[in-house]
Amino acid sequence: MDYVVIIPAAGQGKRMGAGKNKLLLTLEGIPVLIHTLRVFEADEACTGVILTIHPDDEQSFKELLGRYGITKIAALVHGGRERQDSVFNGLKAAPASEVILVHDAARPFIKKNTIRMLAEAALLDGAAIAAVPVKDTIKKAENLHVTETVERSSLWAVQTPQAFRVSVLREAHEQAEKDHFTGTDDSSLVERLGHKVAIIEGDYDNIKLTTPEDLYFAEAIMKKREI
Ligand code: CTP
Ligand code: MG
Repeated sequence: MDYVVIIPAAGQGKRMGAGKNKLLLTLEGIPVLIHTLRVFEADEACTGVILTIHPDDEQSFKELLGRYGITKIAALVHGGRERQDSVFNGLKAAPASEVILVHDAARPFIKKNTIRMLAEAALLDGAAIAAVPVKDTIKKAENLHVTETVERSSLWAVQTPQAFRVSVLREAHEQAEKDHFTGTDDSSLVERLGHKVAIIEGDYDNIKLTTPEDLYFAEAIMKKREI
């Protein structure tokens, strides 16, 4: 199943505290941004990448794309204030396709097999997300006192990629904008319209680089990585 992918990369990496966009940090000498882009560069089913960037990073990102020979960039667009705005900007610039993926640049360890399964499932169900079963016991609390232990067997930790029929993602973002609704991922915009969202079980090593200790995990995952 051919697809295009929006890669939001327009954040500022505040929680990483690196003093620059965390996507410029390197793993085994190569920037995180490039590790992520290379997965899609190597997947024949990917027909185009829409990269959303922060204006401050425009020059350095363009230089990296050239240096590492990234060829699949169909559009380079400025992101917005929130991740959701960045994705919507990317969507407006996307070339025609039936299926579209959204994948955070900050998750460099995504596997081709998961991508393929997501694209197939999105065509069938309209939307599909990568997720893993929650391992921890999760409790709700107020003022640092437990109010409830949540039944774990139905809980999933959600990742990207998330895959959609383009018409579904477009409707979801347009409606969210009208309603001033902000979600923490794209599938939540689809859910609220009552559409189906399928889960594809992914991998625990598809981590998002968010805080400094994630870099230690990332170094370890790099060593045993297979795309
Ligand atoms: N992102 C984006 N536009 C924004 C905010 C985030 O394109 N306005 C991107 C990030 O670059 C990242 C992905 O969305 O690839 C997931 O966001 P997150 O992990 O929160 O990254 P940052 O927003 O950069 O980090 P922080 O929240 O710590 O500042
Ligand atoms: Mg953020």
